[in-house]
Amino acid sequence: MQRLIALTAILAALGSGAAFANTIKVGVVGPFSGPFALQGKNFQAGIDAYMAMHGKTVGSDTVEVIYRDLPTADPAKAKAIAQELVVSDGVQYLAGFYFTPDAMAATPLLEQANVPMVIMNAATSAIVTKSPLAVRTSFTLWQTSSPMAKVARERGIGKVFTAVSDYAPGVDAETAFKTTFESLGGKVVESVRMPMSTTDFSPIMQRAKDSGAEALFAFLPSGPPTLGFMKSFNENGMKQANITFLAPGDLTQESDLPAIGDTGLGVLTTFHYAVSHESPENKAFVEAARKAIGNPAELSFPAVGAFDGMHVIYRMIEATGGKQDARKAVEAVKGLAWESPRGPVSIDPASRHLTQNIYLREVAKAADGTFYNKEIQTFEKQPDPGLAYVK
Ligand code: PHB
Repeated sequence: MQRLIALTAILAALGSGAAFANTIKVGVVGPFSGPFALQGKNFQAGIDAYMAMHGKTVGSDTVEVIYRDLPTADPAKAKAIAQELVVSDGVQYLAGFYFTPDAMAATPLLEQANVPMVIMNAATSAIVTKSPLAVRTSFTLWQTSSPMAKVARERGIGKVFTAVSDYAPGVDAETAFKTTFESLGGKVVESVRMPMSTTDFSPIMQRAKDSGAEALFAFLPSGPPTLGFMKSFNENGMKQANITFLAPGDLTQESDLPAIGDTGLGVLTTFHYAVSHESPENKAFVEAARKAIGNPAELSFPAVGAFDGMHVIYRMIEATGGKQDARKAVEAVKGLAWESPRGPVSIDPASRHLTQNIYLREVAKAADGTFYNKEIQTFEKQPDPGLAYVK
């Protein structure tokens, strides 16, 4: 009888919507081993920093993060991992996703699973159009590459050779640069798409020299490919051949700058985040994220995408009172604006992508000998121009 009374009380409480202390699980997919492990480590540092600064609870609910390793772009595996997180682990939110093909592969699961996806890195414009439950806190290649085309024209560059990794964000970077550059009267004289597995970039450097271009615009996914490309640019005498290097900030992530060395000084890139960004919010973030990552020199941009991603997830949990309601969660963050470590940001209600400042930066050396990306110009409140080109 007593049991029956207890059960009735629980059911009555449930019916009245009384708050129970729940554990809300967040499944984070990223490269935590293999060649891109440092990028995944940055996801974790950003998440740890957020939870250290804002606590592990939202209302009466406790947030638990479950990490799943996906070392490289592997859509089939990404889908399987996402499915397992939803079905076996019972996650209420999916997050992370370093590579575009992995994020794309998981989007068809969201509606049926009643789970929002918060993309902390993958940067192809089209991803957010694949599901109304996808929200992005990183950047897009269109957002970062278009301002670089403007800078190139402003600096009098007329002819450019482009080289990008042959997958969706590379195609976006190439199209964004070419479209913007040519609309301003410049000419892309040759465009090369490099297989993801390319490690010898010397033939590309030779082709760029032979093309008669004054500058080389490049995009590869941050990690070993970008460092390899930068080294090859330096070793093949491109500077001496008077070829200017142009790229989004993926090519000069802070963790690569010591290995790029003095030859990288003065290189211009456009990006949404520099570790050196001057603001109280970034100071607090960098301190917490460096503590989380252990080695301060390893801190890089995926950490800020993850930090802001957690901010969005916390607001979603708040709005739903911890209940699993993906639509309500996503609705609640449309138009959300806050001061990120990168600067002011807001979630565009129509696209669910972040509107943010894009900065022109120059690789510089501090008094203590460390290299950093120095912000020298701001393109304010940039939406994603790439959405207009999604087929
Ligand atoms: C992506 O696959 O979307 C991606 C990966 C690494 C980057 C940028 C974009 O640096």
